[in-house]
Amino acid sequence: MNKIGIIGAMELEVSELKSKMEVKNVVERAGMKFFDGTLSGKDAVIVQCGIGKVNAGMCVQILADLFNVDAVINTGVAGSLRAEVNIGDIIISTDACEHDMDVSALGYEPGIIPQMETSFFKADSTLASKAKAVCERVNPEISVYDGRIVSGDQFISDGATKDRLIKLFDGSCAEMEGAAIAHAAFLNKLPYVVLRAISDKADDSAHMDYPEFERAAAAHCARLVDNLLAEL
Ligand code: ADE
Repeated sequence: MNKIGIIGAMELEVSELKSKMEVKNVVERAGMKFFDGTLSGKDAVIVQCGIGKVNAGMCVQILADLFNVDAVINTGVAGSLRAEVNIGDIIISTDACEHDMDVSALGYEPGIIPQMETSFFKADSTLASKAKAVCERVNPEISVYDGRIVSGDQFISDGATKDRLIKLFDGSCAEMEGAAIAHAAFLNKLPYVVLRAISDKADDSAHMDYPEFERAAAAHCARLVDNLLAEL
């Protein structure tokens, strides 16, 4: 792979990686700053896309059009949807879907995007398996799981919504950008993987857990991405 795009929604999800990058150029587009340089010896572009699916999808398009990246990695935090996946642990995407896509009034299952070939965007299996091996090596104190990322323009913080996402989509974690990145990567025929560290359990305690654990969770992901790049 020649050049990797690395996307985080928030500053805390990209700041550590940016501090390690040898930056050669900074380009601003659509209010996003693209840091073009090398990370762990690999050509890469690091960008903070902002929160939510529109920001995330636009960011992938700019990475494809302007920087010609040949893979996209999304790093950040998420709410766990699985009892065994604890705060601090990492989920590596098998695939991703948009939980707030709902055309059920016209007979489509929730999450299905009408007139698209797929609504469950498969992650690149090579990127995912390398990420898992690297994570086990560099973050030995936590557990790493494969699973489905479910994304929507909502912070999930109640038991009923969490149960819905588990029942309808069999999601492993909920966040707000991964599936949009996956969707845009699919449209551009780019391999992608989403790497998410758990900051909360997407339940009634999420609004309290999130501010306490987001920083430590993001640090686990940054360590993973930095070391993963060295292997690509
Ligand atoms: N990111 C981190 N925790 C989240 C949650 N509970 N819902 C949506 N996005 C999140």
